Amino acid sequence: MNTVILHADRGTHTINRNIYGHFAEHLGRGIYEGLWVGEDSAIPNAGGIRSDVVAALKKLRPAVLRWPGGCFADEYHWRDGIGPRQKRRAMLNTHWGGVVENNHFGTHEFFELCALLGAQPYICGNVGSGTVREMQDWVEYCTFSGKSPLVDLRRLHGREEPWKLPYFGVGNENMGCGGTMRPEYYADEFRRYQTYVRNLSGNQVFKIACGPNGANYEWTEVLMMRAMEQMDGLTLHYYAMPPWGEKKGSATRFEPEEYFETLRLSLVMDELLTRHSAIMDRYDPAKRVALIVDEWGTWWDAEPGTHPDFLCQQSTMRDAMVAALTLNLFHHHGDRVRMANIAQTVNVLQAMVLTEGPRITLTPTYHVFEMFKCHQDGVFLPLHVSCADYHVGGRKIPSLSASASRRDGRISLSVAHTDPTQSTDVEVVVQGARMGSVEGRILHGTTLQAHNTFDQPAAVRPESFRDAWFDTEKLRLTLPAASIVTLELVE
Ligand code: AHR
Repeated sequence: MNTVILHADRGTHTINRNIYGHFAEHLGRGIYEGLWVGEDSAIPNAGGIRSDVVAALKKLRPAVLRWPGGCFADEYHWRDGIGPRQKRRAMLNTHWGGVVENNHFGTHEFFELCALLGAQPYICGNVGSGTVREMQDWVEYCTFSGKSPLVDLRRLHGREEPWKLPYFGVGNENMGCGGTMRPEYYADEFRRYQTYVRNLSGNQVFKIACGPNGANYEWTEVLMMRAMEQMDGLTLHYYAMPPWGEKKGSATRFEPEEYFETLRLSLVMDELLTRHSAIMDRYDPAKRVALIVDEWGTWWDAEPGTHPDFLCQQSTMRDAMVAALTLNLFHHHGDRVRMANIAQTVNVLQAMVLTEGPRITLTPTYHVFEMFKCHQDGVFLPLHVSCADYHVGGRKIPSLSASASRRDGRISLSVAHTDPTQSTDVEVVVQGARMGSVEGRILHGTTLQAHNTFDQPAAVRPESFRDAWFDTEKLRLTLPAASIVTLELVE
């Protein structure tokens, strides 16, 4: 019998709502078409920003939005993206398809998008090919309320009041696309650049340093040793995909072995969070510096017929499972992991929403984010899971992943059942509280490859879950094969 022992009376940390953050880069059809269609578009929009996509994303309570990259951030020059759109300087997007970026979506449009979404802005600045002065000026342009030439410029372009800019990243992947730097060199550059990211007019910037990719523990060690005092957060990037150079495979056509391997890769996140946190703990036992997983998700071959560098991929139940396992891990590591940004919001990688002309469809990953939003700002409740393993070819992963939180007298419990071969029974023992009623929702597809299309947008969607009931103080669940459930327990 699978059992979950849930300690309702032993809340530890708060699950920071910023774990439910997003990332939108100038890449493929993510910004243009996905979020920005322009004021003259026949697609309904608010000042050029797509209304249908905003309405869909708002339902997720997106906590924070990271922009403009990614690799693009270290070749982005913010002055090119302000002023009358037709006069904006175009540039080559060297990372993503070598296409011309017209800069029609810039600083003003980004803050407007955040306001429409109710998301906090997180800007990633240019270290790789930018200057300290450029970064300093950008922060002043956005946040200063006094009198200065940059404020005059902002006002000239239509924005009287400064914006709030709570999160600022000093470069992206500076060991690679952001400048091919050694950790020692980047640590010094970070110290220099961040000095000029000023707190102006009451705006308090949370300064985020570029952290490691995957298991680059040396990068974390060097950054913590040399620059910890200057940072508020350190990033981690990890995609659940085969190593670079190996075939990624199709998003929708895959074998059960590939499903297993993807889930196994997504669970590597646990080891990464544990080991990077352990290094951070040695320098920062009080956990002042947050670990910010500002790029994560799946990465498959681009959809057939699409530009290979536009990274447009479908999203199936396999992706939904990765999202559920990863969010559960973030909850468990929430004392150190205080922001995460899935890559990338619309039409790119593990997107929430896909668009085609005026049509949109919500991905299974979208539904996981919507179902799990009940955990935002909840108090994490420790739980102990003992369960059968899911085996493939002599290898195994746990068949269950779970996390729980408490807010306003309600307990939210998320359980993902990874095994696609059979249903399973679970007994949940709630210690330290007497819960009397349960309601739930379930996401599962007819196959692992099930996904939503523009013609069949509801092939995978949450349904109400009826196989949960209290039986002499124990909560009993019967979970179908490869399913994701969120339950709300009330006294
Ligand atoms: O999300 C796509 C790319 O992946 C980002 O631009 C980069 O930071 C990472 O390597």
